[in-house]
Amino acid sequence: MTETAAGRPLLEVTAVTKSFGALVAVNRLSFTLNEGEVLGIGGPNGAGKTTLFEVISGLSPATAGSIRFAGQDITRASAEAICHAGIARTFQLNAAFDSLTVQENVEVAAQFGRANRAVPGLRLDRHARAAVETALEITGLTERRNRVAAKLPVIDRKLLMIAGALATEPRLVLMDEPVGGLTPGEIDRIVALVERLRAAGRSIILIEHVMRFLVQLSDRVLILHHGEKIYEGAPKGLVQDAQVVDVYLGQGASKRLATYLESRT
Ligand SMILES: Nc1ncnc2c1ncn2[C@@H]1O[C@H](COP(=O)(O)OP(=O)(O)OP(=O)(O)O)[C@@H](O)[C@H]1O
Ligand SMILES: [Mg+2]
Repeated sequence: MTETAAGRPLLEVTAVTKSFGALVAVNRLSFTLNEGEVLGIGGPNGAGKTTLFEVISGLSPATAGSIRFAGQDITRASAEAICHAGIARTFQLNAAFDSLTVQENVEVAAQFGRANRAVPGLRLDRHARAAVETALEITGLTERRNRVAAKLPVIDRKLLMIAGALATEPRLVLMDEPVGGLTPGEIDRIVALVERLRAAGRSIILIEHVMRFLVQLSDRVLILHHGEKIYEGAPKGLVQDAQVVDVYLGQGASKRLATYLESRT
C-alpha cells in the first residue's frame, strides 16, 4: 500500500453529500483510498452505497463536497473524463450489450476508455486490442469470447462487466456487488479474480452484502447506514462493533451476541 507520487492518497472523498429532494442518500461522507488498497463497503439496503459509486464515477454529481483522484479534482467531471482519468466501475445489475459477443462488449469498453482515439469508429488500435486480450484473459473469458452476451450464465455476465471495466486500463476499479446472486463456488472464482487484480497492484473499492467476501478481500472496511459512515477500519473489528452488529442483525443483537460470547468463556 503506497500513496501516490505526490504523497497523497489516490482517492480523496471529502464531505460528499448526495440528496434526492428531501432524501439525503449520502451524508457528508469522507474517506480516502491509497494506491493498491482494497476497500470494502458494506451496509444495509438503501444505505447509499450505489449512490456513492454514481457520484464518484460521474453518473450523478455530488450535491456538495469534493472528490479528488490522482491529484485531480473530479467532483464535477463527466463520466467519460473520469473514466479517462483512470476510474472504471461495474454495476449492481448486470449490464452488457446483449446482442454483441463477449469480445465485442469488451472492445466497446476499451474504445470508450481511450482518451485519444486515433482511429474513429470501433476500429481498435494495437494498444486497445492488447487491453482487450488482457481483460479477457484475466477474467477467464478468452474461450467464450465469441458467445453472445445475452446467452451467458450470470457468473459470466459478472465477469464480462469486470472485463469491460479492466479494458479501460483503470487505476481504480469500483465493483458494485460483484458476487450478488452467485453460488459459493462462483463467489470463489470472483475472489480469485479480485486477488489477481490486487496482486497486479490495482486499487479496488467493492460494495458487498456477502460478509465473507467483504471480510476476506478487504484491507479496510467502511460500513454505511443512512448515508453515513458508522464504521471504518480493519475487517476483523466488524463483529466487535456494537452498532454494526445491530444494523446487520437487528436492534439489541450486539447485546445478545456479547451475552452469548460471555456464556461460552
Ligand atoms: N435516482 C434516485 N432518485 C431518488 N432516490 C434515489 C435515487 N437513487 C437512489 N435513491 C435512494 O437513495 C437511497 C440510497 O440508495 P442506494 O441505491 O445508494 O442504496 P444501496 O446502499 O446501494 O442499497 P442496496 O444494498 O439495496 O443496493 C435509497 O433510499 C434510494 O431509494
Ligand atoms: Mg446498491
